[in-house]
Amino acid sequence: MSNSTPSGTKNPPGTVIITGASSGIGAAFARHLGALGYRLILVARRREHLQVLSRELNKQYNTASEILVSDLSRADGMARVEKKISELKNLVMLVNNAGFGTTGKFYQIELDKQIEMINLHVTASVRLCRAALPGMIANGLGSIINVSSIAAYIPSDGNANYCASKAYLKVFSEALQAELRNTGIRVQALCPGLTYTEFHDTPEYHEFNRSRFPRILWMSAEELVSRSLKALKKNRVTYIPGLVNRLLIIIASSPLLSLIRAFMSRRKKPA
Ligand SMILES: NC(=O)c1ccc[n+]([C@@H]2O[C@H](COP(=O)([O-])OP(=O)(O)OC[C@H]3O[C@@H](n4cnc5c(N)ncnc54)[C@H](OP(=O)(O)O)[C@@H]3O)[C@@H](O)[C@H]2O)c1
Repeated sequence: MSNSTPSGTKNPPGTVIITGASSGIGAAFARHLGALGYRLILVARRREHLQVLSRELNKQYNTASEILVSDLSRADGMARVEKKISELKNLVMLVNNAGFGTTGKFYQIELDKQIEMINLHVTASVRLCRAALPGMIANGLGSIINVSSIAAYIPSDGNANYCASKAYLKVFSEALQAELRNTGIRVQALCPGLTYTEFHDTPEYHEFNRSRFPRILWMSAEELVSRSLKALKKNRVTYIPGLVNRLLIIIASSPLLSLIRAFMSRRKKPA
């Protein structure tokens, strides 16, 4: 069992809340942090997935993980997690990771789906940060990882709300970290590129074919999480994992952005 927080400061392991822990990046955070001995609270909607993961972690690492089934696009789901946070004395990390994508133009996608995304990516993350921070500040210790995306840098056709909500998380995290200097709290906006998870397995992505994107653009969720936690120790507020993703962003902030947009939209279309 580790005697440091996930961000590297010395203290007994405490509790970590991970949203979107039922698959992908969230489950990878859970496995990584479970192996380090943290008590985990795993949040998502799919009870069975959470139960299987929780049992696995408790057995493998002797952790005391628990599950909290909540739909974080709904006010009652957000309130359930806020209440849980308010009851914790030793929350050392919050990972706002739950998220999903849509495909298609803003004016064509169902409005409810767009609002659900804004609620999940933006409102839930903001509310959980607000719930977590007073306790973390009182303890002089804690980390928040808000899972954004390289999409925050690449406003693209067919992804308007996704890009905008991820840009919110990036800017919010940067400003929050500036406010929190000298408090002992670390904030990270994690900006992954393409990652092998269930993200592209939803009905929205039925035409999406992973193999149309070069392998060099992809990263495993385990690799991403390991890099994110290393970067957190180094106080990297905005963290873009991988040279290829960083290059994409450099190109995206140049006049070549239109080339990336054209490449991405060509790849998204069925062959
Ligand atoms: N994969 C990529 O290429 C990629 C790239 C950049 C950024 N990201 C970001 O990474 C984060 C994690 O995604 P992932 O790639 O790991 O995809 P994933 O495997 O589909 O995981 C998404 C997680 O979010 C949860 N979730 C979705 N809607 C929810 C809701 N309303 N309430 C509570 N939980 C909800 C899902 O659980 P339930 O369905 O059980 O609720 C699941 O655990 C997302 O924020 C995504 O935007 C992913």
